[in-house]
Amino acid sequence: MYQIIDGKKISQEIKDELRDKVADLKSQGKDICLAVIQVGNDPASSVYVGNKKKACAYIGIESLSYELAEETTQQELLDLIEKLNADSKVNGILVQLPLPKHIDEEKVIQAIAPEKDVDGFNEKNVGALCVGSKGYVSCTPLGIIQLLKRSGIEIAGKHCVVIGRSNIVGKPMSLLLLRENGTVTVCHSRTKDIREITKQADILVVAIGKPEFVDESYVKDGAVVIDVGIHRDENNKLCGDVDFEKVAPHTSAITPVPGGVGPMTIAMLMYNCVSSVE
Ligand code: GUN
Repeated sequence: MYQIIDGKKISQEIKDELRDKVADLKSQGKDICLAVIQVGNDPASSVYVGNKKKACAYIGIESLSYELAEETTQQELLDLIEKLNADSKVNGILVQLPLPKHIDEEKVIQAIAPEKDVDGFNEKNVGALCVGSKGYVSCTPLGIIQLLKRSGIEIAGKHCVVIGRSNIVGKPMSLLLLRENGTVTVCHSRTKDIREITKQADILVVAIGKPEFVDESYVKDGAVVIDVGIHRDENNKLCGDVDFEKVAPHTSAITPVPGGVGPMTIAMLMYNCVSSVE
């Protein structure tokens, strides 16, 4: 029988721990404030931003909301970031991605002051993760480490295979697993014989962005499978990068979609916000 890793429950535990911590900080006169910027009104982004603001309210973090029009110029956005960088009341700045096509995402990410980059996307924070020094870590991979630890899954010495090499998930995920003493292999779209590699994984993290890409032929018996994907299938039902029904019986533990990795991203954003004043 396999364990279903309950991201909803674990994220709630984390949010409750953070709520206590924030109350404690408040009693010392330390308030936390997160600026949340959305450009345009992509419906998925609006849902994510709404959930982030809700989590802030639950934990006791003030959120400042900037809902900018789709036509906002890159310079206008950079000016707002500069203003927020200089505002001592603001502890964290989050620019929801993706941005409209006329804006250079990389330029915007790098404009956020590293000490306010609670998404952990800035080069300075990515570099810190790489060399093992202090800094913000991207929320989704950070959440996956928490899911594993809080489910009693040992990482040290395990063969961890990550499918995907994005800056937000795949790359920081591989560095975090390495930091936890896993033996890490990264697969991507140009990897040959991907199954030959994934079938060796004790822990398989799938962030490939293709609905139900991974079936049982990719998975070793008894592996732990973490599904980062979120898509709508032809019946408008949410599904992940992993075909849960086919894969789950072959695993020792697996995350569902929804209710696995998704809720952890927001919990870890809250964690990063709290760290910003600690
Ligand atoms: N878009 C999808 N995931 C994320 C995230 O973790 N942070 C931000 N800012 N935008 C996203």
